[in-house]
Amino acid sequence: MYAKGWYVCAMSDELGNEPIGRMILEQPVVIWRDGAGKPVVLEDRCVHRRLPLSKGRLVDGRLQCGYHGLEYVGSGQCVRIPGQDNVPPRAQAKSYPVAEGQGWIFAWIGDPADAAATPVPNVAEKVGAPGWRTIRGRLPIKCNHLLVLDNLLDLSHLAYVHGTITGNVAVAENARVETKVNGNRVRVTRVMEDVEAAMMYAEFGGFDRLNRWQLTEYIPPCYYFINNGSEQVSAGPVAPERVDGQAEWGFQVYHGITPENRNTTHQFWQISYPESACPANRLAEFDDLLIKVLYEDLYVYEAQQESIELIGPEGRDGEVNPVIAINADAGLNQARQILQRLSRAV
Ligand code: FES
Ligand SMILES: [Fe+2]
Repeated sequence: MYAKGWYVCAMSDELGNEPIGRMILEQPVVIWRDGAGKPVVLEDRCVHRRLPLSKGRLVDGRLQCGYHGLEYVGSGQCVRIPGQDNVPPRAQAKSYPVAEGQGWIFAWIGDPADAAATPVPNVAEKVGAPGWRTIRGRLPIKCNHLLVLDNLLDLSHLAYVHGTITGNVAVAENARVETKVNGNRVRVTRVMEDVEAAMMYAEFGGFDRLNRWQLTEYIPPCYYFINNGSEQVSAGPVAPERVDGQAEWGFQVYHGITPENRNTTHQFWQISYPESACPANRLAEFDDLLIKVLYEDLYVYEAQQESIELIGPEGRDGEVNPVIAINADAGLNQARQILQRLSRAV
């Protein structure tokens, strides 16, 4: 069972002239834009002989089934059946409430009547902001979505997984970590003072030693807001309110982590950084490094999932079943509990 809510189902810039067929939360959907450019999410099967609608094509703002040519409009209503005048009103594909913004397209999972009263969370705050650049993409991952939650709420792993790019040992050894729960949100802050600069901070921020911070906020059901900032050691102790900004050098990361099936996940990622974070002639190199970080995590997720499934009996329930908990697990344990509670409440 999954928590109800708005889930990212596509990147805004993914929708072109072809319908996209995709599983989200174990439900097959077809995603497309209607004649007015509005995104549409329907159940991915024709009311007639059940061919997935994603096998069809877009014709004049309608979705035409690829088998006998039934045509659907954005509401999911079939409005044309070739060779006959009569279109029964019950020729209606199930449709999902949809929203678009922040570079993403969202589908509402749960009772459609609840969608209007639930705002889409504001996560990707720097997307489209003046003076900021954003890169984005969708990464399919062969793991249960909770393994991604674990990762994003414990950024100590930068020391070991991203040790040649954004992390070094100080990130795990010398951080002051605080975990706060605010309603259904979990906020983990990690502050490191007077530590050696990791590669990107040295290369692009120009630091030798530095003060550095990381903030992750978990926003149910599937969003992660991450802020990274840094400044010269001479700036003095890092005040708590500093962790929300970038100070001299930093960037933000936004993830929509949407379960695909039980043990596969869509990672809809966006990374925003101030234009000043990277010289114009090094943007390609900079972006490549940030994307490499995503693949370093992917390698871990998929290896974990294989390990979980290999070794029974724990593997059968697909759970991590850790033998011990460590201090760094505090944030992810809180987030897992919240998500579990929300999933049971559906
Ligand atoms: S299956 Fe879609 S038109 Fe027949
Ligand atoms: Fe990571």
